[in-house]
Amino acid sequence: MRFSFLIPFLFILCRFSTVSTCDKRYESIFSFGDSLADTGNFLLSGALAFPVIRELPYGETFFRHATGRCSDGRLIVDFIAKAFGIPYLPPYLSLGKGKSFRHGVNFAVAGATALDPEFFYHQKLGRILWTNSSLSVQLGWFKKLKPSICTTKKDCDNFFRKSIFLVGEIGGNDYNYPFFVGGSIKQVQALVPLVVEAITKAASMLIEEGAVTLMVPGNFPIGCSAVYLTIFRSPNKADYDENNGCLKAFNAFAQYHNTHLKLALDKLGLKYPHAKIIYADYYNAAMPLFQAPRSFGFYNGALRACCGGGGPYNFNNSARCGHIGSRACNDPSSYANWDGIHLTEGAYKIIATFLISNSFSSPP
Ligand SMILES: *[C@@H]1O[C@H](CO)[C@@H](O)[C@H](O)[C@H]1NC(C)=O
Ligand SMILES: *[C@@H]1O[C@H](CO)[C@@H](O)[C@H](O)[C@H]1NC(C)=O
Repeated sequence: MRFSFLIPFLFILCRFSTVSTCDKRYESIFSFGDSLADTGNFLLSGALAFPVIRELPYGETFFRHATGRCSDGRLIVDFIAKAFGIPYLPPYLSLGKGKSFRHGVNFAVAGATALDPEFFYHQKLGRILWTNSSLSVQLGWFKKLKPSICTTKKDCDNFFRKSIFLVGEIGGNDYNYPFFVGGSIKQVQALVPLVVEAITKAASMLIEEGAVTLMVPGNFPIGCSAVYLTIFRSPNKADYDENNGCLKAFNAFAQYHNTHLKLALDKLGLKYPHAKIIYADYYNAAMPLFQAPRSFGFYNGALRACCGGGGPYNFNNSARCGHIGSRACNDPSSYANWDGIHLTEGAYKIIATFLISNSFSSPP
């Protein structure tokens, strides 16, 4: 059912290609970000704040064992790699253990923020950070690794010209942390210019290092996320979007961030006309799942988590997925939400397909 829907989109992308992979110009991917893209760094770093991702049911659908991905299976970055015929990216912290980085590296870390941890310590929010491996730490890892990828400028330019730099999603946690300890939308909105600046600074640093094609995702509709729907549950019907049951104010917040990010990327494009800076519209690529989950095969809706410890959205902070008191559903493919915070492989696959089909990135 879902499959027949996907084929036309992949076909659009690949119609000029004689092989089953898509644009052959790209041979590697370098990914930065948080749990939406982390393929194992957080787990390899100790994962003290979230040790359950070390075990099933995390990873149960595709890999059949836990890989450190915050899902039942593959993530958007995995599907992007697959579409370009590139192997799944090794996490940076696994390098040196016989892993090759010819096809790129994943620097993303679950829980990571765009702003440096000092910012949160300063706001007395530091103790709730899951990780200190913020975006600038990840960029530092990239710089450290670079000399083993290429040495001369010409070498590097040649190599990185054939690379996609996926810069995010990042920034979602900069907002999650303060929201979850009671920050108001107005207070958190004040962070948006800082977060956007951190992302665009990262993008320009990568361009200075030789990146040419950059894909910079915006934020998801967080008002549709089970954790937000649970924590900010409201008796007031008017707080919910009648088309999808999501919290309107938090979705408007995500769009506020996205609008600012898009504007900043447009400006960056003027500064670096040779670079291809693509805004990846995660928000609108995800929205159809929430508007019409059944048409994608999500028969249990898109708001209720597959794995959790009860409550109206099956998200219970005292019994999160993987903890005692929680259980996973029998059929993750009929859910869009995996653990209340992250989406299922099924949902990520559809979102990635929308993105790859060019309908939700600008410029296409
Ligand atoms: C982050 O750094 C602070 C200050 O150095 C340290 O106290 C804290 O334990 C670190 N947090 C994590 C999750 O590593
Ligand atoms: C949430 O989990 C706790 C701990 O397992 C449990 O006592 C509580 O009843 C659960 N709440 C809901 C709404 O299911």
